Amino acid sequence: MAGTAQAHRDFLNRYYRLTRHVYDATRKFYLLGRDAALRDILDGNWQRLVEIGPGTGRNLQRLREARPLAHFGGVEASDAMLGHARKRLPWATLVHGFAEDADYTTLLGARPDVVLFSYCLSMVQDPRRALDHARRSLAPGGRVVVVDFGDLAGLPSIPRAMLRRWLALFHVAPLDPAVLAPHQPTLTHGPGRYYVIATLPPLP
Ligand SMILES: C[S@@+](CC[C@H](N)C(=O)[O-])C[C@H]1O[C@@H](n2cnc3c(N)ncnc32)[C@H](O)[C@@H]1O
Repeated sequence: MAGTAQAHRDFLNRYYRLTRHVYDATRKFYLLGRDAALRDILDGNWQRLVEIGPGTGRNLQRLREARPLAHFGGVEASDAMLGHARKRLPWATLVHGFAEDADYTTLLGARPDVVLFSYCLSMVQDPRRALDHARRSLAPGGRVVVVDFGDLAGLPSIPRAMLRRWLALFHVAPLDPAVLAPHQPTLTHGPGRYYVIATLPPLP
């Protein structure tokens, strides 16, 4: 995967080098369901949370405001975003890595209770591998929480096709339900199945 991982990293760095400055202001209009996923996460007992692909750090910031004594980490494939998030979140442990194979079991001193993928899996090159890896990395009793573009099945066909084409320009593919299904997740869908929130248990 080394060559393709480097190509992905280069793409992300080109993409986010400038757009990271307007990221939070613009994405709030279409990265829907994130706050609902954060509310789900906050409705539970946990001490350690790792976000895969934290981007600007928007989600980690909100979670910390609500849970100031918890430990927060992140694994980010884009150097541009990583630098940005490190400045914004000096209290978090943020490292460069890829969702599919980064070892984050000791990032916070022990395995995470929660692994969060927020609009990240739809950009990851091998989302199946990333999910297996996340479930294997959890502390006993932990959970993986995913919020991302759903299969859009409830949208009319022309807007659905246009949205898929537009997302593909940015290397984003809405989540195929078949990627989540083997994990027997708890699922919530947004209107039109625009977004999906999935909660996955650790691997047995
Ligand atoms: C659409 S942004 C979402 C950022 C943030 N999670 C949010 O909800 O605002 C996707 C993030 O995932 C990162 N990313 C993409 N592929 C990745 C991978 N294979 N491993 C880790 N991070 C990745 C991108 O660099 C970017 O920061």
